[in-house]
Amino acid sequence: MEVKSFIGGFDKNFSYLVWCPDTRLCAVIDPAVEVTPIFETIEKYDLTLNKIFITHTHHDHIAFLDDYYKLNSTIKVVGFKNLEKDGLDNFIGVEDMDCISLGNQILICIHTPGHFPDSMCYWVKHDSIIFTGDTLFVGRPGRTIGRKSNIKELYNSLYNKIFKLHLDTKIYPGHHYGYKETISIKDNIITSDFFKCTNLEEFVRTMKEFEKNRLI
Ligand SMILES: [Fe+2]
Repeated sequence: MEVKSFIGGFDKNFSYLVWCPDTRLCAVIDPAVEVTPIFETIEKYDLTLNKIFITHTHHDHIAFLDDYYKLNSTIKVVGFKNLEKDGLDNFIGVEDMDCISLGNQILICIHTPGHFPDSMCYWVKHDSIIFTGDTLFVGRPGRTIGRKSNIKELYNSLYNKIFKLHLDTKIYPGHHYGYKETISIKDNIITSDFFKCTNLEEFVRTMKEFEKNRLI
């Protein structure tokens, strides 16, 4: 799988353009960034846009979805089956561990609630990469102060799902909040106290401490 990242949108958001080098079918993960450079890249590399993947339906992550519908009104949009938002055209609802193809490539959908109930990560096992949305950034997890956030679910999604993948797996997060754009799960755990907790209570304490210090 080829990956190209684009940064912009509401708050250092990422959109990722991914494609199958054999078939040249491409997809965008999170329509969160202004589309012109993405459309130019699709043209430059002679790609065909096949799907949009949504990591969750917070506004900033789908802010530019209409521009993709304008380009191709039949474009398929992939996201968690119980979406927190209605009215997405050509929606394909997926559940935990469903596989979606992109040409000869496979993306495995991992349901990771916590930051938001419809949070999904998309794992490309063959290349050891995972698109983590706002579940996991470089250096810290997504926040859980939202009305529909659930810190216990976030702990479970991180520690019992993502951190169980091969530790060399590289994460591609939903925002550029860290000291670099991408990192392996292993290095993320080594360099951040959020990811060294031995139980839920410790994780809750670490997250609460972080939120307290943010407000100062
Ligand atoms: Fe979010």
